[in-house]
Amino acid sequence: MTSTTRLPATGDRVPHPARGPRPTPDAVAHWRRVRRFARTLREDLDAARRRDPAARSGVEVALAYPGLHAVWVHRVAHRMWREPALRLPARLLSQVSRAVTGVEIHPGATIGRRLFIDHGMGVVIGETAVVGDDVVLFHGATLGGKTMKRGKRHPTVGDRVVVGAGAKVLGPVWIGDDAQVGANAVVLKDVPPGSVAVGVPAKIRQKPSTAPPEPEVDDPAIYI
Ligand SMILES: CC(C)(COP(=O)(O)OP(=O)(O)OC[C@H]1O[C@@H](n2cnc3c(N)ncnc32)[C@H](O)[C@@H]1OP(=O)(O)O)[C@@H](O)C(=O)NCCC(=O)NCCS
Repeated sequence: MTSTTRLPATGDRVPHPARGPRPTPDAVAHWRRVRRFARTLREDLDAARRRDPAARSGVEVALAYPGLHAVWVHRVAHRMWREPALRLPARLLSQVSRAVTGVEIHPGATIGRRLFIDHGMGVVIGETAVVGDDVVLFHGATLGGKTMKRGKRHPTVGDRVVVGAGAKVLGPVWIGDDAQVGANAVVLKDVPPGSVAVGVPAKIRQKPSTAPPEPEVDDPAIYI
C-alpha cells in the first residue's frame, strides 16, 4: 500500500511525494535483522574496550584487535554455515580470518554475545563448541575435541567464564557460569559454576568468597 497525504486545497488524498511506496514486510524484517546484527557487532567492540585496560578508544579497538576481528568474521561465517549451500564458503572465510588474526573459530561453533578474545593468536574453537555470553578467552586457549568421532565433541562454556592463556579445555565438558580456567590448565572434566580450575590435569578449587569479612564485634560484656 502506498502512503498518502491530503491536499490542503481540495482535501483529496494523493500519494505522498516524499515517502514513496511503503516497504514490504519482508524488507522491514530484513532491516530489523541488519540492525540487530550491527548492534551485536557494536556490543563486541564495547566489550573489548571495557575489558582491556590498555584500550584507549573505540577506533583503536576496531582497527587493532585481532581477537575482535575474528569474532566479527565468525558472526558472518556462522550465518553462512546455517545455509547448507554456503558451508564451503563459510569454511574458507574462517580460514582467511585464521590466516589474518591467528584465531581459528569453526563456523559451526555457537558463540554468545560480547565474547572477548584478548591478544588473539593461537585460540582454537571447535565446531560443536558452545560459548556463553561475556566470556573472555586469552591467547592460546583451546576449546577442542578429545576424539575424532562426529557429534558433540567440544566444550560448552557458560556465561562470564574466563579461560586463561594457553589453557586447553578438551572434550564435551561443561564449564559452569562464572568459572575461571587458569593459564596453561588442561581441563578434562566438568568445572562447577563459580570455581577455578588450575593445573594439568586441572584440579577444581572453590573461589574464595568475595563477601566482605564479618566485622569483629568488640562487646565489652564479654570481658566481664
Ligand atoms: C586461575 C586464576 C584465574 C586464579 O586467580 P586467583 O583467583 O587470583 O587465584 P590465586 O592467584 O590466588 O591462586 C590460587 C591458587 O591457584 C594457583 N594458581 C593460580 N593460577 C594458576 C595456574 N595458572 N596454574 C596453576 N596454579 C595456579 C596459585 O598458585 C594458588 O595456589 P595456592 O592456593 O596453593 O597458593 C589466575 O591465576 C589465572 O591463571 N588467570 C589467567 C590469566 C591469564 O591467562 N592472563 C594472560 C594475560 S596476557
